[in-house]
Amino acid sequence: MTEGTVSTRNNPFTPSFGSIPPLMAGRNYLIQDILEGLDNGPGDPHRATIFVGARGSGKTALLAKIAEDAAQHGWINAKVTAIEGMLEDIIQRSQESASEFLEKNRSGKITGVGIAGLSITRTIESTPEGNWRTRMNKLLDTLDENGIGLLITVDEVNVALDEMRTLAAVFQHFISERRNVALLMAGLPHNVSAMLQDKTISFLRRAFQHHLGSIELHDVKETIKNTVELSGRSIEEQALDMATLATGGFPFLIQLIGYHIWRQHSQNEVISMEDAEDGVEYARSDMKRMIFDTTLREISDTDEKFLLAMSLDEGDSQLVDIAARLGVTSNYANQYRNRLIEQGIIGSAGRGKLKFEIPMLKEYLREKP
Ligand SMILES: Nc1ncnc2c1ncn2[C@@H]1O[C@H](COP(=O)(O)OP(=O)(O)OP(=O)(O)O)[C@@H](O)[C@H]1O
Ligand SMILES: [Mg+2]
Repeated sequence: MTEGTVSTRNNPFTPSFGSIPPLMAGRNYLIQDILEGLDNGPGDPHRATIFVGARGSGKTALLAKIAEDAAQHGWINAKVTAIEGMLEDIIQRSQESASEFLEKNRSGKITGVGIAGLSITRTIESTPEGNWRTRMNKLLDTLDENGIGLLITVDEVNVALDEMRTLAAVFQHFISERRNVALLMAGLPHNVSAMLQDKTISFLRRAFQHHLGSIELHDVKETIKNTVELSGRSIEEQALDMATLATGGFPFLIQLIGYHIWRQHSQNEVISMEDAEDGVEYARSDMKRMIFDTTLREISDTDEKFLLAMSLDEGDSQLVDIAARLGVTSNYANQYRNRLIEQGIIGSAGRGKLKFEIPMLKEYLREKP
């Protein structure tokens, strides 16, 4: 091994879906608000919150990060996805999380748990009788007697699932009974809006909603720099600026670009401008496979035509121009505009102008055969 090189360093970036990144950019206030809501007691509005965001905006990672941090505040968690079997999964994940939590705190950090730990574990682990609400009540009672709250996180919300409706209805009772429980949900924009329009779960309309938009570039810059430094390397200022700009503030790209610029010449101490340029190119081709292809598969042909028409503009697009290019009325074009905005793919840039919300998508559409 030559001087100045280290062979055992691992790439610190995590460009895989659902991974909690080593450093999370731009979500500190949001996380803080939720944790305060947990500390604050029953009735705090943060205890029912929905995160809305496009693919790769960081919904799953955020749910996981909050669940992890909440453990330090005396909260166990049940992290589930809105699929068949979700309600049973909530009970089983709660039991699992409670056992782990008690195991960790057996040293007695939480008053009483040290001595009573074993019997509490037994109570929690024995599956209570009755319907879902009865079983949850028993579980929540046991947890509450020991000062433990339950954070339920539901990823990929889906209104078509009956269990989603049951959860929403029962959760409303938990709230009015002032139980120590919180519900954090996350979903793609169109799934969340479909859920909120459903009459049977109108209660969720009053839940706090957070749109996970793009992250400020100065936060992105800090995060890339600090993540690189976590691995014992550093990055040239110019390379850092280039990589930061290329992320467009899109959370997944922070990890994907970081990952690729890091691995170019990983034996070197410092990440150079050349590494940054090459890394961004690799990231671009991964984006195609990991984000664009899926996103376009999920929208209609007309939606795609609308996006293609937008991609012809150098800068932001005007709705009237798009309507003209598509040969449709502005009214008609407006319906597509609204749908695409709802899906988080495009956004309003003020004064009737439109822009792409997902970085690199415009270039991808332009090059698409
Ligand atoms: N705030 C953040 N700062 C840096 N990286 C982040 C941040 N949030 C998420 N990431 C990273 O972005 C990637 C995508 O995150 P995540 O899987 O949570 O997205 P998602 O919104 O759940 O996507 P999907 O809708 O496809 O499920 C992951 O690699 C994650 O580590
Ligand atoms: Mg996800």
